[in-house]
Amino acid sequence: MDEIIVEGGTPLRGEVVIGGAKNAVLPMMAACLLVPGPVRIRNVPRLRDVATFLDLLHALGVRGGYENHSLVLDASRVASCEAPYAHVKKMRASIYVLGPLLARLGQARVSMPGGCAWGPRPVNLHQDAMQALGAQLALEHGYIVARADRLRGAKIVFDVCSVGATGNAMMAAALAEGTTEIENAAAEPEIAALAEFLNGLGARIRGAGGKTITIEGVTALQQAEPFVNIPDRIEAGTFLVAGAITGGDVVARGVRPDHLAMVLSRLERMGCELTTGADSVRVRVGKGGLQGTAIVTEPYPGFPTDLQAQFMALLCLARGTGVITETIYPDRFTHVPELRRLGAEITLSGNVATVTGVERLQGASVMSTDIRASSALILGGLAAAGWTRVSRVYHIDRGYERIEEKLQGLGARIRRVREGET
Ligand code: UD1
Repeated sequence: MDEIIVEGGTPLRGEVVIGGAKNAVLPMMAACLLVPGPVRIRNVPRLRDVATFLDLLHALGVRGGYENHSLVLDASRVASCEAPYAHVKKMRASIYVLGPLLARLGQARVSMPGGCAWGPRPVNLHQDAMQALGAQLALEHGYIVARADRLRGAKIVFDVCSVGATGNAMMAAALAEGTTEIENAAAEPEIAALAEFLNGLGARIRGAGGKTITIEGVTALQQAEPFVNIPDRIEAGTFLVAGAITGGDVVARGVRPDHLAMVLSRLERMGCELTTGADSVRVRVGKGGLQGTAIVTEPYPGFPTDLQAQFMALLCLARGTGVITETIYPDRFTHVPELRRLGAEITLSGNVATVTGVERLQGASVMSTDIRASSALILGGLAAAGWTRVSRVYHIDRGYERIEEKLQGLGARIRRVREGET
């Protein structure tokens, strides 16, 4: 397995161009199943998760794939209604095909995802939403088996705010008979982007990006214009932390600063100086240095759980104490023991991590456990004295395109060691 080796201590300087949002494009790929014709999505990152989702779509009979940083997909023919365990276990977002398959074919067989490294990660809300739309659901040999002659619009009230379940419900309801109202919908930019994408196909969706979404079902969808995907706010946040943690001066370009409001406010509270342009954010650490702060992960517009690990790395080098409360995934702390290997002082109590800033981190061998934990370890390594070797970096390739090359472009001493090389 590949490893990433970082020699810390170089302040990063320069500009980095942020790619398209992974978590926006995955549901859009699933939504292609609703369309009996070609669909083009631009600004798509070249990532392992997108490739994994493409494999699943191909298994379902969809044709097409990448053209540079676009995806061209054609679901004129959908040959199968089954998302097999082999795919779902690789990537939980595979559950996104449940709604579209049901709406297009009247049936779906989707393997139940298992837990993940940081908790149980249930899919009950996805199931509830399909049932509300009139589907019959059963659990057969580890598969969710769903059937419906024609989905019917309904009121769906989520008791927990879920990005995935909101997206799934929106896609299924787009072709349902009548009107659907989703209450307590996820308001993430990725959901607003999915609605915009679906509306570009002829769907009638209002209110996405807010807590109530209304969908008037239509009978068919077709693309008129290619869709341009939104920028990845998590990649943007990660590079801003890279600038701050190394005491550098980094401009993240091609971003949507409005999608980063809470993240930018926390950077400022920690002592960073930010300059925000129409599509860029520049970060430098102010004269007073970095200071600890409190961060609570919450659904959007709150602080994203997907930047929790990276901000923990930053808090490790801030003056005073930082407190992180993880409310989305209470066990999402597998990076803590690894950051401790770099010399961090972190104590955990339930879903609260208390970080006492240290003068410096020291390079060490560490192991990445998921996409965002991996980037936190690279960030720690960029600031640590000496060498850090991050193993199991296949996690990072799921969510960051050429991260080591982008960091090299900012002056980082970082390289990938391919399996078999030394
Ligand atoms: C998406 C993102 C992931 C991010 C997460 C939270 C994608 C592909 N992944 O995941 O990177 O960390 O949003 O912002 O977009 N829940 C239930 N029942 C369900 C579904 C979810 O109880 O059926 C709970 C979860 O356990 C969690 C909360 O709802 O506590 C939010 O999860 P959700 O928004 O669904 O996350 P995903 O869509 O899986």
